[in-house]
Amino acid sequence: LAIRLADYQPYTHLVDQVSLTFRLAPTATRVKARLDLRPNPARGGGGHDLRLDGEGLRLLALAVDGRALAARSDATGLTISAADLPDGPFVLETEVEIAPEGNTALEGLYMSNGMYCTQCEAEGFRKITFYPDRPDVMARFRVRVEGDLPVLLSNGNPVAQGPGWAEWDDPWPKPAYLFALVAGNLRAHSAPFRTKSGRDVALNIWVRPGDEGRCAYAMDSLIRSMLWDEQVYGREYDLDVFNIVAVDDFNMGAMENKGLNIFNSKFVLASPETATDDDFARIEAIIAHEYFHNWTGNRITCRDWFQLCLKEGLTVYRDQQFSGDMRSHAVKRIEDVLMLRARQFREDQGPLAHAVRPESYVEINNFYTATIYEKGAEVIGMLRRLVGDDAYARALDLYFDRHDGEAATIEDWLAVFEETTGRDLAQFKRWYTEAGTPRLRMTDDFKDGSYTLHFEQENPATPGQPVKGAKVLPIAVGLLGPNGDEVVPTTVLEMTEPRQSFRFDGLPARPLASVLRGFSAPVVLIRDLRPEDRAFLLAHDTDPFNKWEAGRALAKDLLARMVVTGAQPGPDWLDALERVTLDDSLDPAFRALCLRLPSDDDMAQTLHASGHVPDPAAIYAARRRMGAALAQRLAAGLPGLIASLAEPGPFTPDARAAGRRALRLAALALLSRVDGGAAARAAFAGADNMTEEVGALSCLLDIGEGQAELARFEARWRADRNVMDKWFALQIAYAAPERAADVTRALTAHPDFDWKNPNRFRSVIGALAGNHAGFHHGEGASYALVADWLLRLDPLNPQTAARMSTAFETWPRYDADRQGMVRAVLERILATEGLSRDMREMAGRMLGEP
Ligand code: ARG
Ligand code: ZN
Repeated sequence: LAIRLADYQPYTHLVDQVSLTFRLAPTATRVKARLDLRPNPARGGGGHDLRLDGEGLRLLALAVDGRALAARSDATGLTISAADLPDGPFVLETEVEIAPEGNTALEGLYMSNGMYCTQCEAEGFRKITFYPDRPDVMARFRVRVEGDLPVLLSNGNPVAQGPGWAEWDDPWPKPAYLFALVAGNLRAHSAPFRTKSGRDVALNIWVRPGDEGRCAYAMDSLIRSMLWDEQVYGREYDLDVFNIVAVDDFNMGAMENKGLNIFNSKFVLASPETATDDDFARIEAIIAHEYFHNWTGNRITCRDWFQLCLKEGLTVYRDQQFSGDMRSHAVKRIEDVLMLRARQFREDQGPLAHAVRPESYVEINNFYTATIYEKGAEVIGMLRRLVGDDAYARALDLYFDRHDGEAATIEDWLAVFEETTGRDLAQFKRWYTEAGTPRLRMTDDFKDGSYTLHFEQENPATPGQPVKGAKVLPIAVGLLGPNGDEVVPTTVLEMTEPRQSFRFDGLPARPLASVLRGFSAPVVLIRDLRPEDRAFLLAHDTDPFNKWEAGRALAKDLLARMVVTGAQPGPDWLDALERVTLDDSLDPAFRALCLRLPSDDDMAQTLHASGHVPDPAAIYAARRRMGAALAQRLAAGLPGLIASLAEPGPFTPDARAAGRRALRLAALALLSRVDGGAAARAAFAGADNMTEEVGALSCLLDIGEGQAELARFEARWRADRNVMDKWFALQIAYAAPERAADVTRALTAHPDFDWKNPNRFRSVIGALAGNHAGFHHGEGASYALVADWLLRLDPLNPQTAARMSTAFETWPRYDADRQGMVRAVLERILATEGLSRDMREMAGRMLGEP
């Protein structure tokens, strides 16, 4: 059943033109398709059967060059034998019927709140019509939409419209996964844009009536993204319109369909009253991400789904650069690394570990992972660090030049770097083909003015990959002198061997090395450092990432000792953190990040990696004690700090204001630990924006208070789906370990728990999986609850259910009892009749099936 990279073959035919006509109806939509086909010379010309993908389609008519043919369709498609096909070009016509209203999988053409929309990546187009649904088949699409809804959209440029119909033409050949159609009663928030070379583009964000007032930030982000891609990558937009549609029922974040991006509404709609600063930042990043796909994904697409990281890794890398330019590179890098460790390291160190470019899959939807996306972006960051900024820019120019209009591979991508730099990237390529997080051990010595760093890399076994070679590691290093001055500025050491040493001569005194600056390679750095040295780096490092990392390591070392030996927080950490918190010369956003304690899951990962069996309850208790000690220590200074960070004037979502709010709320959370919640209660009552409202409410929930505020929040926001998601999630995220399952169960009985809506499902079931101590509490009540809901969702929406099953991916970390309980749950899932292919693959892999 598995699909293998090694089996790739070009498609038998080429598609020169696609013409589609949709007659929309909720239970019986008609789709007529006319495909202009010809034999593919790359497959030796004619003589091949024509195989088209198609699932859940009722075939009504089929003709070749106008001659009706008897249909031979099966569960996954349609075959027309070579004998029924002419030798040269021909026209294939089909008509099918589909039922978008009953489409609960939210893949293909479906309905959300009375509106029609599509999601075709990766393989949803086959649920719309018979077609070679693979990314290397690129064709021009012309689409006619008929339906009694006011707005009828598809890809490309509008060419004609009348009452009840509209026609669209997309001049750029594209794979079917980029097809989109939307029809609904929608309102546009519009703006004009002129590209650098003078093309006028109409920008529209389409939303439900009433939501027009929440589009301004997304539009502003779009315009900034378009300008940025022109300035930084020299990439211009290439159609007369760019449409974005917000949809409430959506399996993921957003989708880059050509000229018609479709978004989960929570990543478009924002106003100060309804969106937090984090929401604003995410909207900016995702709008940019989807827009940037127009070049890295659409103009240059992927040959097959094994190459997914070609577009996703690069587009994530580009959106990270963009957010850094818009906000703060230091803060953005820290946030990205926090995310990488929380999601990608977790994946890479468990049973679901897979290469950035995997070699086989059963269900491709299961591979839209942190490894493909985030590690894929890290690999590009390393490549750039190795070749330098200029070579990176030249390689990208060559990539766009050479592969525009093509479906490319990772080999193509690496070749443009090899050719522009003369480097051999054969060893570097292991980053794409080998899974797992390298562990990098470091020691040092100093003698006669020479300082030497010794590194040793270990590349642990992952499923199906027992042995692997040394990786190329760019290790950015700077050296600090005893007074805290930088004696050697950042230098990139290039490690290629399993063991390697690097020497620095002519030093008057033993320096302190700042290693892996900017997190220059996605590895676990293992280095014995005294707490006072970490505190020294926190105080003096010139690299903002490593400055933060030093504080982080100090906290994690301490927390690990508190968990394992019951130690209490000592002065090293408390002093250091107090200094940072009150240092007005530091960016408030940076200080807020320093105040964020390591998460329970992060500590479990760290403890496991260092040979311990993590005890979720002990980690939870230690982190609570750590927070309490910090609150005690800082108590006297907190009210003053909070007051000094007040933002006069109306809310603005910019990074500076957001950073000040983040620090204020971090301080408020600590203050709540000592004032019984008085300040947070006042902040909640006086909040005029969602950041403060949710922030203050979180402070209260964190200390076991806030029931009245929760009720007020619900009364105020009952009608707003996106805001209510927060209400559901917060209660579960902050529930005490022994109450988490009960709180979740109670919320699943709430009349607004619409479990078929992926956002709401994630806000409730996902929140329980994310409450580490609550998820792993006691006799497995949370395991069972999560599994029950996954099994309930799976028949309706396998994609979201399978994605959320990753809640269980960390089971091998824990004690034998918990391992046994999770195994039993996964076996129960696997034994379920009618289980989706998606879920079967995930549960099987988590149980270690090959
Ligand atoms: N290409 C989309 C994006 O990153 C995501 C599509 C996810 N598709 C899926 N089947 N999970 O921007
Ligand atoms: Zn993407």
